[in-house]
Amino acid sequence: MRIAALASHGGSVLQAVLDACRTRELDGTVVLVISNNSRAGALARAVEHGIPALHLSSATHPEPAALDAAMVEALEQAGADWVLLAGYMKKLGPRVLARFRNRILNTHPALLPKYGGHGFYGRRVHEAVLAAGEHETGATVHLVDTEYDSGPILAQVRVPIRPGDAVHDVEERVKAAERKLIVATLRELAPRNVASA
Ligand code: GRF
Repeated sequence: MRIAALASHGGSVLQAVLDACRTRELDGTVVLVISNNSRAGALARAVEHGIPALHLSSATHPEPAALDAAMVEALEQAGADWVLLAGYMKKLGPRVLARFRNRILNTHPALLPKYGGHGFYGRRVHEAVLAAGEHETGATVHLVDTEYDSGPILAQVRVPIRPGDAVHDVEERVKAAERKLIVATLRELAPRNVASA
C-alpha cells in the first residue's frame, strides 16, 4: 500500500502507521504527509522518517479550487493509492474526493454516528461523551465522503469509560485503541490493492 497521510496536529496516529510499516506488520509505505498546519508535529515526524512533507492550506493556496488541484497533484506525484486522514481538520475538495473515491479513510475518536460531524473534534468529542454520562466510547474508521465523519463505517473499537475518568484519560485510552484499529483496518484493506492493480 502506498499511503499518503493528511494530519493537522501531533501525528500519533500517523506514527502508529509508520511503526507498522517499519516492522512490516503492515505491507505498506507512507509516501507523503500533508498538513494544513505548517507547525504540525505530523510534518516533523515525516521529515524525521525521510518522508516528503508538504504544507498545503488556504495560506499556500487561497483559492479552494487551486488547493484541491495542488493536493491531487501532490498525491498523484507521490504515487499514493490510499489517503489516510489521521487527525485532519479540514474538508477535502471535490477533485481529491473524486480521484481517490473509496480510497480515503478517516479515523474518528468516537463510536460514529454518535459524537461526529461538525464541531466534534479533538477533546470536544471526549468532553461531550463524558457530559452525556456514557459508559463506553470508542473509535471508528470510515470511508470519507463530502461531509465530516460521514461515509461507510469500516471498523470500530469499543473503549470503556471508568468512574472518575477525566477527559484526558478517555482521550488517551481512545487514542491507544484507535492506533491499533487503523493499523488493523489498513491490513485488511491491503489485499484490495492486488485486486485493483
Ligand atoms: C485522533 O484521535 C483522531 O481521531 C482525531 O484527532 C486525533 C489525532 O491525534 N481526529 P494525533 O494528531 O494523531 O496525535
